[in-house]
Amino acid sequence: MEAQRLLHGFCSNSAIPPIRNPKKPFFMIFNPSLDHSKRWASFKTHHYDAPQTVSWSKRRLECRNSVENAGGFTGGEKGLESGIRRKNLAVFVSGGGSNFRSIHEACLRGSVHGDIVVLATNKSGCGGAEYARGKGIPVILFPKAKDEPEALSPNDLVAALRGFEVDFILLAGYLKLIPVELIRAYPKSILNIHPSLLPAFGGKGYYGMKVHKAVIASGARYSGPTVHFVDEHYDTGRILAQRVVPVLADDTADELAARVLHQEHRVYVEVTSALCDERIVWREDGVPIIQSKENPNDYS
Ligand code: GRF
Repeated sequence: MEAQRLLHGFCSNSAIPPIRNPKKPFFMIFNPSLDHSKRWASFKTHHYDAPQTVSWSKRRLECRNSVENAGGFTGGEKGLESGIRRKNLAVFVSGGGSNFRSIHEACLRGSVHGDIVVLATNKSGCGGAEYARGKGIPVILFPKAKDEPEALSPNDLVAALRGFEVDFILLAGYLKLIPVELIRAYPKSILNIHPSLLPAFGGKGYYGMKVHKAVIASGARYSGPTVHFVDEHYDTGRILAQRVVPVLADDTADELAARVLHQEHRVYVEVTSALCDERIVWREDGVPIIQSKENPNDYS
């Protein structure tokens, strides 16, 4: 009965209504004794080994036509349609590329509705680049450096990605700053994964084991990966998804890194799936949120 009444709060003509007024009570748990005319949301959390999301199911939403999907798409129902166009992905790496591999495997098995069409790297001999060559994925070098004379300039990089008809760019352990030319060419279309719960332990200098050492030294009891959109600075773009893992009392940086990386592989695939399905929507205050594949009324 209550659920039915609440469903009437949703737009009947849109599967993805805009989400307004984030400053009002956001994480209120539904309580029948409360005044239901107030805006409210339900949420769920899970142990770190289970999928960890905070979702806005059953949330009372206002009906407006201001939803914008990532990649400049508008109109909220595309993400759930079958026949949606497969997306072309570029992945940027500097190292081993385990996230790149997990996303590539997800594309091959069909859990991501897209294809990795090009790999960009600043290190032509890195593990990610070797893996790409082995799979027949073209490798391009960026940025230009003394030891990489064939590398591209920012404008050539943009042109190359356009040439591959790239829709989205996934940074996966890419250690160079992304040039403003690329950010302007691909608005709301570049993601990065960082191995801490941003905004903590992020920014210039926080990469690799330095992040995990700093987390342990701080005494923080939880850490985990963050997937965020990319802007002109290190690790400051809008947060899209996070997962939480415990920091154990006797953890080494290596042990914590392995626990975080395990979740990175999961969350980056889930987010890439949402990106390719056009299930990312932008709340009115500019925060991107993900529509659940299973339940279109759930957002996280
Ligand atoms: C990951 O920890 C990621 O969070 C960070 O760089 C690392 C890349 O690892 N940005 P891999 O190359 O994907 O194994």
